[in-house]
Amino acid sequence: MSAPLLEVRGLSGGYDPIQIFSQIDLTLSAGESIGFFGPNGHGKSTLMKTISGVLAPWTGEIVLEGQRLNRAGERGSRRWRNFNYDVVTRRRMDPKKVARAGLIHVPEGSLLFPEMTVAETMDVAPVAAAGRGKSADRLAQVHDLFPRLRERLDSKIRYLSGGERQMVAIACGLLGDPKLMILDEPTLGLSPKLRIELCQAIASIKAAGVPLILIDQDVNFLTELIDRLYLFDHGRISGVLEKADIPSHEKLMAMLFGEPAA
Ligand SMILES: Nc1ncnc2c1ncn2[C@@H]1O[C@H](COP(=O)(O)OP(=O)(O)OP(=O)(O)O)[C@@H](O)[C@H]1O
Ligand SMILES: [Mg+2]
Repeated sequence: MSAPLLEVRGLSGGYDPIQIFSQIDLTLSAGESIGFFGPNGHGKSTLMKTISGVLAPWTGEIVLEGQRLNRAGERGSRRWRNFNYDVVTRRRMDPKKVARAGLIHVPEGSLLFPEMTVAETMDVAPVAAAGRGKSADRLAQVHDLFPRLRERLDSKIRYLSGGERQMVAIACGLLGDPKLMILDEPTLGLSPKLRIELCQAIASIKAAGVPLILIDQDVNFLTELIDRLYLFDHGRISGVLEKADIPSHEKLMAMLFGEPAA
């Protein structure tokens, strides 16, 4: 039997000294996609930053296709955390290596460099795919998905709309040739029209064979794309729903927060 695509076991982490999440277990088989849904500020993005190595895990294991991504061991001493803990080989997880292994994280808020142009930004993105390259195919896919980016290639990121920035961020994720892509609230703050456009692009990415870990505030959108929904609150997984058991957005909101169904 082949190894699962991603296994997360007993993961905990946060912003030292504040722990944000604990005891997270997840398994994604090849080809599966999952969603996360939960209240604001309860730790979804922090968990994703830890899975992709932007933050060091405090405890637990992260394994991609059988390859352990984080080094064994508990949290380092304060001395290590304050100084060269992150830059010397003692580092327990390296986000560059995670990206090169094929786990690509498109973070919340499309963090791009405002003074770079779209073309420059998309030129550097395939670095994450080092050694796995299918960059010509991926570039063609990006141009198919986001035709409007062709017209904006020479624009600086700072002059783009929020939706266009989000397109560039997702395009960069794809140019990293993902085996698994984390999309953290990709449609946050977009107009309904742009949101629909972006949802369609994300559905096409999934249909083209890229498994997703998707965080979104709209359960109906998540349900279209995922195999399982993880309910997340207070830094814990509070429930797991298989696709067939996921209620509508309105019903789930009423179940979780007691609000009347609209
Ligand atoms: N860089 C940071 N340093 C310290 N605390 C942080 C940092 N970023 C987030 N936090 C705190 O960590 C907690 C979890 O935040 P996080 O962004 O992971 O939640 P979330 O579930 O993704 O929320 P949302 O749905 O609003 O995106 C919050 O209390 C937040 O204030
Ligand atoms: Mg978040």
